[in-house]
Amino acid sequence: MKVLVTGGLGFIGSHTVIKLIEAGHQVVIIDNLFNSKPDVVDRIDKIVGVKPKVFIQDVCDKDKLMEIFKAEKPDAVIHFAGYKAVGESCQKPLMYYRNNIDSALSVLECMMENECKNLVFSSSATIYGETDKMPITELSPRKEATNPYGQTKVMIERIIEDVCKVNPDFNAALLRYFNPIGAHPSGLLGEDPNGLPNNLLPYINKVATGELDHLNVFGNDYPTVDGTGVRDYIHVLDLAKGHVLALKKLENGCGLFVCNLGTGKGTSVLEMVSAYEKATGVKIKYEIKPRRAGDVAESYAATNKAKEELGFECDYTILDACKHGYEFQKANKVELKCTKNN
Ligand code: WQD
Repeated sequence: MKVLVTGGLGFIGSHTVIKLIEAGHQVVIIDNLFNSKPDVVDRIDKIVGVKPKVFIQDVCDKDKLMEIFKAEKPDAVIHFAGYKAVGESCQKPLMYYRNNIDSALSVLECMMENECKNLVFSSSATIYGETDKMPITELSPRKEATNPYGQTKVMIERIIEDVCKVNPDFNAALLRYFNPIGAHPSGLLGEDPNGLPNNLLPYINKVATGELDHLNVFGNDYPTVDGTGVRDYIHVLDLAKGHVLALKKLENGCGLFVCNLGTGKGTSVLEMVSAYEKATGVKIKYEIKPRRAGDVAESYAATNKAKEELGFECDYTILDACKHGYEFQKANKVELKCTKNN
């Protein structure tokens, strides 16, 4: 199929583009470079030998998006484009609602007006909110999110569901990611957020390469195995594979399909630190700090629906993800240093 990937130069988007091309799909990327770099498309080319067409464009601009739809006539859309920093969303709610909802509405309207009937949406486990029933299944209720970022995911899922209700021939997969981590084994693609990382692994990566002094562990008094937060960390390449499998399901005409993408295993912060040290041989210094507002104690996925309905299974382990993330960070840090010295 010809697949339009919004946010295709981003962390999850770029890894999904790799998997789409490897599966024989033709890919067109739209990205406004808010949280990505233009050279990612050259890195994709180096990995798979195909350089997808890229439109440096804001998905919120519906007129420009319509021009792209008319010119490219995609069979499917994978919609990643959106702001995704939980903490930032609490400081700038309007920016998040305007951008994330507008971009989703633009994509849906263009799809409707161009007979494009297959959508994969990048959703998040955040939509489950606070829940103490583990593992979390797709039947767990969607709740008011604890932050505007998560709330935009709740709202967009609802919009897509309503569109599916009145368009029986429209197929949509809502993929609820748990915690994406890692990088491409080539060291060419990975997660390198602008500024101080919010998430655990990018932060540990920078401690490992000496860019940051130590990790702050947010709370060790949770009711968990060692008191620190437990999450379901899934390698970004496994997550990307899940999108290719979801696309295949849409091709067969499935209407609305909702699915968790996780490993089914919970890992605490301190267990992640030990895994990282084991995978890389690098000691990670840390200090225990108070809990972070909005955090839940535990969150990990029930994975049977992904397995039964997508044939989804993970290929990579936490150790692989730590190793790949570290290798990517090291390679990029060296590059950044050279740039600074030029
Ligand atoms: C994981 C654990 C922290 C940083 C969020 C979004 C989710 C998705 C992934 C986009 C928690 C602890 C973290 C640090 C720490 N986003 N931690 N020190 O909050 O589970 O999920 O990011 O797709 O939608 O909600 O991820 O990596 O921030 O935190 O101790 O410096 O690591 O308390 O227990 P989170 P995270």
